[in-house]
Amino acid sequence: MAEITAYRPEDRRAVEALYRRVFGNDAAESSRLRWEWQYGRNPNNPGREPEIWIAREGKAIVGQYATMPVQVSVRGSEVRGSWGMDVMVAPERQRQGLGELLFRTWDRHVGVALGLGLSESSHRLFQKLRWPEVGPLPCLVKPLTRRALRRPNWPLPLNRLVSAVTLPIVKLVARPRPMSAEVRLIQRFDASFTTLWETLAPKFDLAVRRDAAYLNWKYVDVPHVRYSIAALRRDDRNVGYAVYRHLREPRGRVTLLADFLTDPDDEGGLDTLIRWVDREARLADSDKIRTFAMHGEFRRILRRAGYFVVKSTVEFVAKVNTAEVPADFYTNTERWHVTIGDSDQDR
Ligand SMILES: CC(C)(COP(=O)(O)OP(=O)(O)OC[C@H]1O[C@@H](n2cnc3c(N)ncnc32)[C@H](O)[C@@H]1OP(=O)(O)O)[C@@H](O)C(=O)NCCC(=O)NCCS
Repeated sequence: MAEITAYRPEDRRAVEALYRRVFGNDAAESSRLRWEWQYGRNPNNPGREPEIWIAREGKAIVGQYATMPVQVSVRGSEVRGSWGMDVMVAPERQRQGLGELLFRTWDRHVGVALGLGLSESSHRLFQKLRWPEVGPLPCLVKPLTRRALRRPNWPLPLNRLVSAVTLPIVKLVARPRPMSAEVRLIQRFDASFTTLWETLAPKFDLAVRRDAAYLNWKYVDVPHVRYSIAALRRDDRNVGYAVYRHLREPRGRVTLLADFLTDPDDEGGLDTLIRWVDREARLADSDKIRTFAMHGEFRRILRRAGYFVVKSTVEFVAKVNTAEVPADFYTNTERWHVTIGDSDQDR
């Protein structure tokens, strides 16, 4: 019979070995490179052991549920929560109830439990446990060149035809537009971004606290990817930011707008950041820009700026345990601010 207990430093090697068996060598190696940053330096877990639940059978480790602690703003109050991340059970012990035990242990110990980008098996298990399903996280794409609509699974002639037919539309949405406010590239988030977050938090029904310490950990001190950060400025104050990076995919170059924040009522503000990212994406020779946004108003502004909603496979579950939420909380998610920068999705 397995018991579930907290992670101990001496578990590290056995957990790594299990990770390798379940997720493969490449994923295990990239997890190893992220480990110290992910678990040791998270400002929401200062000086404590990683929040990882371990399933043990005697001396053997047969499963884990690793989490990323965050502060979550839920309708104006701050609740301690965490993103559930790398959950795994040893292949020979799957489908015997261990996963359920791990999910329930995590849930009992956290004020808000959040899961993003689920695998088929964990998605099914969340459904079996009847967790509120609020996903998938909407995905939006802005085409910049005629290569933008290519699909790796289409034959070349079809890709060429689609590119040719859609070229006039792509040219129209991708045309450069002037910016109306000041945007500045920054190296780190200063304390003014904490103030910005505290001003804007009540505008969101659910969002991870985006204070300077969190943002610097997540987007500046991160070891495995390199982001650019643009600050939106008005009257000499920081009133928003965008975090993005350029990457190469099998059918072209993509700029990923990983995270952003403005006042959702400040359409001009987000629109200015969008134009900045357009310009940067063009300079980087990207074929398209991709972003993910849960918030209804942010999505509307993105669509007006030339983004199209496309199919998303990023499943999302959320469960609030320690704050009162109204009956329609999980069905009306228009005021939730969640992006692909959340959890550890962008790896
Ligand atoms: C997800 C995981 C941790 C679940 O652990 P588990 O011990 O197998 O789960 P349980 O036995 O408690 O629950 C089983 C339920 O999970 C779901 N499930 C588990 N594996 C599944 C699979 N391969 N396909 C579909 N559903 C699956 C089903 O709902 C299943 O219920 P059922 O057996 O009545 O059909 C385990 O399958 C795993 O390690 N998967 C590989 C790694 C992974 O995908 N991690 C998630 C990253 S987001």
